[in-house]
Amino acid sequence: MPRTLVAANWKMYKTSAEARTYFDTWRTLPAVAGREVAFFPPYTLLHEVSAYLRPGEAAGAQNLHEAPEGVFTGEVSAAMVLDAGCVYALVGHSERRHLFGERDERVAKKFTAALNAGLRPILCVGETLEEREAGRTLQLVLGQLQAAVGMLPPTAGFDVAYEPVWAIGTGKVARCEDAAEVHAAILEWLKKRGAGKDARLLYGGSVKPDNAADLLATEAVHGLLVGGASLQPEEFHRIVTAGL
Ligand code: PGA
Repeated sequence: MPRTLVAANWKMYKTSAEARTYFDTWRTLPAVAGREVAFFPPYTLLHEVSAYLRPGEAAGAQNLHEAPEGVFTGEVSAAMVLDAGCVYALVGHSERRHLFGERDERVAKKFTAALNAGLRPILCVGETLEEREAGRTLQLVLGQLQAAVGMLPPTAGFDVAYEPVWAIGTGKVARCEDAAEVHAAILEWLKKRGAGKDARLLYGGSVKPDNAADLLATEAVHGLLVGGASLQPEEFHRIVTAGL
């Protein structure tokens, strides 16, 4: 199993000056052995953030377009984010799915485009509150997985982030046993298909310094995807080092 991955999804936050201030502080905090850290800044900061990274740290894109290039005003390809220093790319984040109408078929194309370009995609999956209350969580999550991963060769390298939509940015974190149940189902699904042999399963949704250690100690949780609490370096560092 590769190292635990703790990822910072900055979403649409930070200018260049703010990123510089962040890393001025971040680099005074001790580097964390045994855990990998990945930063997902806005596209405009990818080059800059890549240059700030220490060993054990990586950069990733929050999104990409599925085409290699073309007449797609405002879009950015997998090769472009790779060129800007990315190792990872988030694909199918719930804000992309729910605010920008990305459906499973589109997410699958982006996932394949990321792999073909040599990136390691992190497929984001997760149910809405309505779907959870209707008892459809596993069906929904495994369906999202099937749509993106179903046709892939077994050698493809990727990670998966389980982010219940109702937990993102709401302060309502999933109970560890709920995360464990979904993660176990994802692992079993991957194993059955012989896919994602080295895939890490990240939990995301209202991760904070005070719940990170319990989540990281949960069965089949191999990392965290952190939004709001990754925007302050000291707070994010407390999450990265939680339970150590
Ligand atoms: P949050 O966001 O930590 O602010 O809930 C997580 C995410 O959207 O990846």
